[in-house]
Amino acid sequence: MIGEDPEEPMSGMERSVVVSGGGTGIGRAIAARFARQGDRVTILGRRAEVLRAAADEIGGKYPVRTVAVDLSEAEDIDSRMPELPERVDVLVNNAGGRGTPAGEGGLKEVAERWRHDFDTNVLPAVLLTEALLPRLVSPGGRVVTISSVAALRGNGAYGAMKAALQAWNHTLAGQLGSVGATANVVVPGYVAGTEFFGGPATEEELARRRAQTLVGRVGKPEDVAAAVAFLAGPDAGYITGEFLNVNGGALLGR
Ligand SMILES: NC(=O)c1ccc[n+]([C@@H]2O[C@H](COP(=O)([O-])OP(=O)(O)OC[C@H]3O[C@@H](n4cnc5c(N)ncnc54)[C@H](OP(=O)(O)O)[C@@H]3O)[C@@H](O)[C@H]2O)c1
Repeated sequence: MIGEDPEEPMSGMERSVVVSGGGTGIGRAIAARFARQGDRVTILGRRAEVLRAAADEIGGKYPVRTVAVDLSEAEDIDSRMPELPERVDVLVNNAGGRGTPAGEGGLKEVAERWRHDFDTNVLPAVLLTEALLPRLVSPGGRVVTISSVAALRGNGAYGAMKAALQAWNHTLAGQLGSVGATANVVVPGYVAGTEFFGGPATEEELARRRAQTLVGRVGKPEDVAAAVAFLAGPDAGYITGEFLNVNGGALLGR
């Protein structure tokens, strides 16, 4: 039929959506957005009780499934494969964490900090994607990975790890293109209201972050969820290998 594209996954068509780090912050907002539009959502994270609480609160047409797993550990992922969906329409690689601040110590400590940031921000995306690729629908599958504005402006090992994800996405997009699937990256600026900074921001910090934007407000998890929903949706089938900045104009056009 004219206007229909069999390669397009349809929003609201009960897609199977996997969101890593879906128990808190940005990942939880992403999971809630997909659940609201009628998709079957599975959320992953290390803390089972946090996942269960999020799943209960998110609700949706179908119960949100939870899988407690450390995504930096290959063996843990292997052992959880039976709990993960047999079919994946959308994979959102959101799990990650704040970098370890530079501190005291010698080269041994420097190596430990960089390895920790690698384990926290690169391995979860790479390992989960490798694990679920055989289950990604083709054509029409979508992989969306969450990077950070830090990849564009520094922030030590954390920024370097997010930049690594963006380089990795080029390869992934090439791989998925041949099976009619896409891989894109959402690059958020500062987002308030998550566990990322370990507690609520002070008024001074919020004012400082607000002043860095052009739109006069800080980011919300829902801002990032909207960008992910677009890239995972039917209107984005011809977009792949791209980075979508979501930063209120705090850093322009890179
Ligand atoms: N907030 C910001 O300003 C900001 C800006 C740019 C980019 N980001 C990125 O956005 C993503 C979400 O961050 P957020 O701000 O929403 O922070 P958050 O609330 O701390 O969320 C991070 C999530 O990742 C999960 N996670 C971390 N390591 C994991 C592992 N090894 N295995 C499984 N799950 C793991 C955590 O759950 P468990 O601890 O239970 O495992 C948590 O649910 C991260 O990739 C972050 O780098 C955040």
